[in-house]
Amino acid sequence: MKELLQQLTTAFGPSGYETKVRELILENIKKYVDEYRIDALGNLIARKGTLKENGKRIMVSAHMDEIGLMVTHVDEQGFAYVTNLGGVRPLNCMSNRVVFADGTEGMLCARDLEAGKLPTLDNFFVDTGASSREDCKVKIGDPCVFVGDFVDMGDRWMSKTMDDRIGCYIAIEALKELKNSPNEVYFVFSVQEEVGLRGAKTAAYSVDPEIGIALDVTHCNDTPGLVERNLKFGAGPCIKAKDGSLIGTPWLNNALYDAAERAGIPYQIEVLRGAGTDAGAIHLTRSGVPSSAISVACRYVHTPSEMVDVNDVKQAIQLLVEFVSHEIKDHQ
Ligand code: CO
Ligand code: ZN
Repeated sequence: MKELLQQLTTAFGPSGYETKVRELILENIKKYVDEYRIDALGNLIARKGTLKENGKRIMVSAHMDEIGLMVTHVDEQGFAYVTNLGGVRPLNCMSNRVVFADGTEGMLCARDLEAGKLPTLDNFFVDTGASSREDCKVKIGDPCVFVGDFVDMGDRWMSKTMDDRIGCYIAIEALKELKNSPNEVYFVFSVQEEVGLRGAKTAAYSVDPEIGIALDVTHCNDTPGLVERNLKFGAGPCIKAKDGSLIGTPWLNNALYDAAERAGIPYQIEVLRGAGTDAGAIHLTRSGVPSSAISVACRYVHTPSEMVDVNDVKQAIQLLVEFVSHEIKDHQ
């Protein structure tokens, strides 16, 4: 269990470069699914179960990509300048290490540093130890990601890619556990979420689901100094009422609350001012799809040290299994 998570969270996979993550997931789910395909954008779409009486076609989506950076140019001295792939904040770049697909590592630093002022992302360069442009192993267009190990802290886990490898992990474990359901469940491991929910958009079009559920992290605001304290560690999975991309469909959320109660697990109601998940793309597909998200409260989102609570993760798996295993009444 922890070995899979360790492999998942350390696999190289910035937006648009998810192949390694997909191969690893496929290896782990192959024998548990009825059918799978990889679409033109690189989404892995795996079906479990067939539609039975009173069943529904459900799309469960977890994104494989992680935030990263891409080289815009390399200067004469061999410093590689970068732009962002997804929500990378300058504050979180300062003095961190990055790694490229071929294993080349470098230090992220910004030029023209002024005391008390945060540089913008276009001032950041990667020092790979090169002494000239010719000598530099990285080239224009090369993507890189933060360096960071998986750390087992006992009741908590930490890694650079909890967003959203923990969602992938929850999907994998739920898929293994799922048996006898009236529903046809499509587990989608999507690409390019961090750059605008792009993979989920095409995957949802082809799956054509009746219900959409995203699995992702959300901002846990139980650390010092945060004003809104609505989501915390150890209080169970979060069910999405709202974020910047979606208003969780009320009857679907009621069905998720019911599933949590049947499974005897606590849950939190998630209201985010901004941000989004794959559900934001799913619900606007074709003529509309009732959608919501099951999120795991995560501290330090989009830093090299994203942290989650182990029990929250386990209960998110339980909630998902309980929800997709039973008939879902359409209360609309
Ligand atoms: Co993210
Ligand atoms: Zn995410």
